[in-house]
Amino acid sequence: MTSNPASGIPAVLGTPLTDSAVRVLLLGAGELGKEVVIAFQRFGVEVIAVDRYPHAPGHQVAHHSEVIDMTDPAAVTAVIEKYRPDFVVPEIEAIATEALGDIEARGIAQVVPSAFGVAATMNRERVRRLADEDLGIPVPPYLFADSREELRAAAARVGFPCVVKPIMSSSGKGQTILDGPDDVDAAWETATTKARVQNTRVIVEGFIDFDYEVTLLTVRSIDPRTGGILTQFCAPIGHRQVDGDYVESWQPQQMAPFAMASATSIAARITGAMADGQELGGRGVFGVELFVKGDDVYFSEVSPRPHDTGLVTMASQRISEFEMHARAILGLPVEVTLASPGASAVIYGDRDEEAVGFANVAQALAVPETSIRLFGKPESTTRRRLGVVTATADDTVSARARASEAASRIRIVSPGEAPTTVIGVPGESNDAQAPTHNLAQPARQPASK
Ligand SMILES: Nc1ncnc2c1ncn2[C@@H]1O[C@H](COP(=O)(O)OP(=O)(O)OP(=O)(O)O)[C@@H](O)[C@H]1O
Ligand SMILES: [Mg+2]
Repeated sequence: MTSNPASGIPAVLGTPLTDSAVRVLLLGAGELGKEVVIAFQRFGVEVIAVDRYPHAPGHQVAHHSEVIDMTDPAAVTAVIEKYRPDFVVPEIEAIATEALGDIEARGIAQVVPSAFGVAATMNRERVRRLADEDLGIPVPPYLFADSREELRAAAARVGFPCVVKPIMSSSGKGQTILDGPDDVDAAWETATTKARVQNTRVIVEGFIDFDYEVTLLTVRSIDPRTGGILTQFCAPIGHRQVDGDYVESWQPQQMAPFAMASATSIAARITGAMADGQELGGRGVFGVELFVKGDDVYFSEVSPRPHDTGLVTMASQRISEFEMHARAILGLPVEVTLASPGASAVIYGDRDEEAVGFANVAQALAVPETSIRLFGKPESTTRRRLGVVTATADDTVSARARASEAASRIRIVSPGEAPTTVIGVPGESNDAQAPTHNLAQPARQPASK
């Protein structure tokens, strides 16, 4: 790659699989990674997708795929040294971040948004202290605890209800809401046994009885007018969480002007801290998670990458969060234009099985202005996200109704199973229950092994 050496921004976009290629290595190749891969592919970037299991969604669309234990620093270093990419793009949290620090320090590749940002955001203590102590950003009241007894004391000081979370975890794993002191023991058990990384340090947060929560997608990119960093904010994304996982999201979520001003100020400060002093560094998309109560806005956490609730942007924005990420990393201009009110609804696995099929896709897509993404995950579990429906409409209420209706029409079927409950071909949502004939056979996928 020919690049401006100071900033690492490619001066030209080359040809993949040749010496002129700009190369990007993704650590994590799930459904979000898959969309990032596709966005890079469209710029002729050569993509290496890495995940912990074969045939991950992103593997299926990349030039090269690798399967490694991403929590093993030696394995992470080895795969980066093998491909010598221009950019290393972490797409999940569970990564040996010490290896990324070393790669960055040795100047082998640029880590997106920075090795510091990746390490800080995967640790609730670091990001919370950064926001509160260094940046003065409003956060829910919090304390840390290293033992059951410390947790008992900390919960009493923070007050009930409160939320206990492992320091290192995502997707709601290991979290408990405590209504009173009697819940302390169970919360301690859950936090110390269910977390991704075995760890006995927990955070206790005051429970915020918010009016709504939003993801404020924030993108740091090169301003084509000045050549400097420009921070832009997408329209806020509202979402609904069940058991720590988002089930639906919509954009825009209306916010009062004062709350919106607080939100953008918080997002600018926390994402600015991700640059870590590098010239034109810290570029990319960030998902800033905020709780809103009246005019008060509390910072919860930030993903230094596209956010799952931002899947809606594939329908609602002119440029999706995935393309925004790719453009920002490559030093290209980004715009955050909202194209239409939109919504997304998750399709879950519904059963524990390999190589499942999806029936009634035609019926789902018969709901107006909907699109479906099936991620191609080789294995289903009941609560695993296997796909998503996006929808547009004149307002978010209608878009949510369309997305949920379409997602609810999809039936997960076992390999070889004929769908028995085919929903009628709908013209209107009220005929969803109409009995019909077997129109659709489930899409058959060859077994992955
Ligand atoms: N202090 C709090 N007050 C009220 N609700 C909370 C609080 N902390 C978490 N929640 C609820 O739980 C959800 C998940 O919390 P959080 O984002 O901290 O966990 P996570 O494991 O990082 O989840 P994810 O990886 O999906 O973002 C939040 O989106 C919010 O709905
Ligand atoms: Mg979260």
